[in-house]
Amino acid sequence: MTQSRVLIFDTTLRDGEQSPGATMTHEEKLEIASLLDEMGVDIIEAGFPIASEGDFAAVSEIAKRSKNSTICGLARANYKDIDRCWEAVKHAHSPRIHTFIGTSPLHRAIPNLDMDQMAERIHDTVSHARNLCDNVQWSPMDATRTEHDYLCRVVEIAIKAGATTINIPDTVGYTYPFESAKLIAMLLERVPGADEIIFATHCHNDLGMATANSLAAVEAGARQIECTINGLGERAGNTALEEVVMAMRVRNDILPYQTKIDTTKIMNLSRRVSAVSGFPVQFNKAIVGKNAFLHESGIHQDGVLKNVQTFEIMRPEDIGVTADNIQMGKHSGRAALRAKLKALGFDMAENQLNDVFVRFKALADQKKEVYDEDLIALVKDEAIND
Ligand code: KIV
Ligand code: ZN
Repeated sequence: MTQSRVLIFDTTLRDGEQSPGATMTHEEKLEIASLLDEMGVDIIEAGFPIASEGDFAAVSEIAKRSKNSTICGLARANYKDIDRCWEAVKHAHSPRIHTFIGTSPLHRAIPNLDMDQMAERIHDTVSHARNLCDNVQWSPMDATRTEHDYLCRVVEIAIKAGATTINIPDTVGYTYPFESAKLIAMLLERVPGADEIIFATHCHNDLGMATANSLAAVEAGARQIECTINGLGERAGNTALEEVVMAMRVRNDILPYQTKIDTTKIMNLSRRVSAVSGFPVQFNKAIVGKNAFLHESGIHQDGVLKNVQTFEIMRPEDIGVTADNIQMGKHSGRAALRAKLKALGFDMAENQLNDVFVRFKALADQKKEVYDEDLIALVKDEAIND
């Protein structure tokens, strides 16, 4: 299917919540779902309805309240899971059932199905889901470690049984970007009917390549990225929504696809997901880390004060960051000190600034960060000593 828009499928409330210790309350899930809906996420995977009464209740309520997004629930490859999933998502103005089964040799061994038996199970469960809902996503879990011939065979079966989206998960974060692209290209070329459906990419970050793998899949023809806010997810997490969305926006010359995401809402969502999951965001995390738009060294500060583009490839306000981008510390220079003092209301003569600068450097050697209050105290001391 050729389309210039990449659909964003957020699974913070399902795969993200599977992260050990990231459990959210019912109210917290409703809040996050409503923020995702407002931000322009195309599909929200709201939970795994058969997993617990709580998950069922959350998915049902999110479905009832959804305004714009499609609401999806996860189901294993059996009728009971699929029926329960449908009972929860059916309230949405746009519902989706997502059913999956592990297709790699390691995963086939768990339910003890041979290749033919598994193919039959896929046909039956996808057909059953499609009889309930006209929007069905199917995933061959551990697709990146599944034999290519078998993967083509089962993807074709799922399409014929009525799947409208085929998701290709890199369940254990094993793949490389060029492999991720080749896999999607191979499926598009070999599977009959592949051009009638949407291919999705679902990457995990065990080797730190989830974002690169997702973008490589898009380059090869995938048109749905599955991701989570802050990259929350099991083990090393999932593809981070903010990274793929901003990468496609900043480098639209390379990957010329649009998303529907209102990027100015990213920072608030990042903070809310961090607060409700209890997972802090690392300071140097791409896009949403505390330091992502901060400059401490003199050369960088001088550069951004003259022209912000010298050291920033995106505007902080585009992701909803309004705070000051200059942090004062031992690497900071005179230009940044002058600008910072001016912003604090002190327009200093050159000789006064020189004195304050010497004392600022001495203080900065003792502290990780010099705060506005420290600078004000230095200026006041300077006035007394004069
Ligand atoms: O990583 C994975 O394979 C999954 C599936 C359930 C899609 O999360
Ligand atoms: Zn996953």
